[in-house]
Amino acid sequence: MDIFERIESEVRGYCRSFPTVFTTAKGAVLRDENDREYLDFFAGAGTLNYGHNNPILKEQVLEYIKEDGLLHGLDMATEAKRSLLEAFDRNIRWARKYEYKLQFPGPTGTNAVEAALKLARKVTGRSNIISFTNGFHGVSLGSLAMTANQHFRDGAGVDLANSSFMPYDGYLGPDLDTVEYLRRFIEDKSSGIDLPAAVIVETVQGEGGLNCASFEWLQCLEKLCREYDILMIVDDIQVGCGRTGTFFSFEEAGIKPDIVTLSKSLSGYGLPMSVLLMRAEHDIWKPGEHNGTFRGNNLAFVSATAALNHYWRGTSFTRSIQERSQILRNRLEDMCGRLLTDDETSCEVRGRGMAQGIAFTETPELAQKICKAAFERGLILETSGAEGQVIKCLAPLTIELGELEAGLDILKESIETVAGKRKRTLGTASGTLV
Ligand SMILES: Cc1ncc(COP(=O)(O)O)c(C=O)c1O
Repeated sequence: MDIFERIESEVRGYCRSFPTVFTTAKGAVLRDENDREYLDFFAGAGTLNYGHNNPILKEQVLEYIKEDGLLHGLDMATEAKRSLLEAFDRNIRWARKYEYKLQFPGPTGTNAVEAALKLARKVTGRSNIISFTNGFHGVSLGSLAMTANQHFRDGAGVDLANSSFMPYDGYLGPDLDTVEYLRRFIEDKSSGIDLPAAVIVETVQGEGGLNCASFEWLQCLEKLCREYDILMIVDDIQVGCGRTGTFFSFEEAGIKPDIVTLSKSLSGYGLPMSVLLMRAEHDIWKPGEHNGTFRGNNLAFVSATAALNHYWRGTSFTRSIQERSQILRNRLEDMCGRLLTDDETSCEVRGRGMAQGIAFTETPELAQKICKAAFERGLILETSGAEGQVIKCLAPLTIELGELEAGLDILKESIETVAGKRKRTLGTASGTLV
């Protein structure tokens, strides 16, 4: 690891959590240069929903390269982009009745968020945007203004403007309806909050600690937006593309956001690509007004097309995700139950679909220790939440059932080891077990 420590910036993050040099990867398994295998419950922070080097996508990618398919295309019309638009039209727009138009911004998630904010301001002529506590939307300055976490905000170096934060669902306890709370600020001309251009919301806060908005909360938020002519942006960058079971994470809530951002698993192959989906009437861009050199990552279009056509043609993929999600839920509940009864450690299962984990709100340091213990045992998973208090399981959606169980066995063993150690320490410190 010497060269990384010597000349790569101090900003590096994940290589500190997983201190080894990786070489190859297939499906849900990563391999390092010592030939050690690791099960992947991280999936590139939600970028590899179909696993590493998915063979169905790989075949198309290799074929395209072999044929000298155009790789870089700005926003020129290409065969690869046409195929992607057709696949999206057939499997998502038509099949799911979401008649959005597509915009290809720069290739990363934050590029899509920046474009969404800009468009919402352009459409409404207003500047303020409502974001939510614990929300994460990227770290370029516009997106960062919508991101709640102080650790990231501290890096800005300038004032982060034109955003107002409001409590997410459940933030003020189970009895306070935070959409009603927001409504009060919107309808009161003396609340000090300017009428916003948009709200930007995640249905499950991936980085913010796997907090889930209830379907009812999302429906009420949509209703409030309609009443006041506020655009609703759903940032589906982390939990879209099937992570919660359906292609969009908001399908089951029955809402139709005005703008949707997608990235991460959209190409399905770890290739950078993002899109902005918008209602046709909001597509008021002038030609070339919002641009970017890497809008046309045609190789990503090829793998995205293969993923849409293979996984999203019918409903069998959703059923397979649901089966895995239920196993994940049951096993996590079981681990939490044991922690409570055997170790008197309070914890809670959080999240939805294949984005679930365990929150250690009272003992946040445990989450980090458990992830470290899991890595030592050959399982890669990360924490999320303001204090890194939530263990987040983001296995590929295509993970074999045996691998899912094996990864969960490692997690269980890591929890038992860390919690057992804590119990012994507490016992020694107080002379008695608490
Ligand atoms: C919900 C959400 N929005 C935006 C982003 C930013 O994406 P990127 O890191 O590709 O800029 C992320 C990244 O984790 C995210 O989870």
